[in-house]
Amino acid sequence: MADPAVERGDYLVNAILACGNCHSPRDANGEIIKDKALSGGRVFSTPAFVVATSNITPDPETGIGRWSDAEIKRALIEGIRPEHHRLPGVPLAAIMPANFYKALLPEDLDAIVAYLRSVKPVRNEISDPVYKAPIHRDPYPDAENGFDKSTFTDPAKRGAYLVTIGHCMECHSAWSRGVSDFKTGLGRGGRVFAEAGNGGVTVANIASDRTAGIGGWTDQEIARAITQGISHDGRKLKPPMAYTFYAGLKADDLADIIAYLRTVPPLQ
Ligand code: HEC
Ligand code: HEC
Repeated sequence: MADPAVERGDYLVNAILACGNCHSPRDANGEIIKDKALSGGRVFSTPAFVVATSNITPDPETGIGRWSDAEIKRALIEGIRPEHHRLPGVPLAAIMPANFYKALLPEDLDAIVAYLRSVKPVRNEISDPVYKAPIHRDPYPDAENGFDKSTFTDPAKRGAYLVTIGHCMECHSAWSRGVSDFKTGLGRGGRVFAEAGNGGVTVANIASDRTAGIGGWTDQEIARAITQGISHDGRKLKPPMAYTFYAGLKADDLADIIAYLRTVPPLQ
């Protein structure tokens, strides 16, 4: 019988957390190469850094096979490497969303570690990062406040947890010169991702305004956008919207995410 922690970790990593959206190598068509999953190497280049995603498979040399559980958790929730291995103690570039993973409940952190230890080790040497500016993560209010599982009987609260650990609002909030505005621009969209090709993609407004946002959409329409990448008007959504991962969301989790999104104050 499968270990329930590994099963939960598999679900989290491959659905809501979409770790592979950044950490899995892709082929020329942009499809994830399944037998190299989570072995890193995707390069992200911004004015602040040029980094390749780390190999987070258990390969002892090029991955995280020699890290302790506590070291893996620290990288996840504080964004700091262990005091051994590659680049000892060096903070991870802000693109690794530790400011959101900070919200992870202890049992979910354990499950993620258990799952990462269970995946196939892949040897894949990653080039060293180049940091051009001090590392800066914007505090995400819900992650700073943390979550108490006893409040999860309220679907919108449970949904807020999932949206936090899914770092949805990192992409979907107002953003300027590398700084996210979670206080007055939560869910407003507008951030441009250049790498999507064809002149890039502008992130959509998912706050609850009835015209600028998704407030006028039905639950089914929101669910279809999240899990199938099809917008309200039938348009196919571009990456980096991670719908291929969210396709695996359980029905109750998806319903709670939608319940939370309906509570995000409307913004034009
Ligand atoms: C938005 C992209 C992105 C997402 C999503 C993401 N990561 Fe990362 N992660 C990175 C990048 C980039 C680095 C390397 C940063 C650097 O070198 O400064 C990194 C580094 C790491 C490291 C440090 C490993 C090492 O050898 O230095 C671990 C562990 C890690 N990520 C685990 C995860 C897990 C588990 C998830 C899902 C819960 C995840 N990451 C989601 C981009 C991402
Ligand atoms: C890595 C960045 C990123 C993350 C993380 C992300 N999204 Fe998106 N999302 C986008 C982009 C970019 C678009 C617009 C794509 C397009 O217009 O082609 C989008 C579009 C959408 C849409 C469709 C809106 C419309 O008007 O068509 C919804 C709904 C949505 N995202 C919800 C979510 C939810 C919920 C999460 C978290 C579970 C999430 N997104 C995580 C980047 C992201």
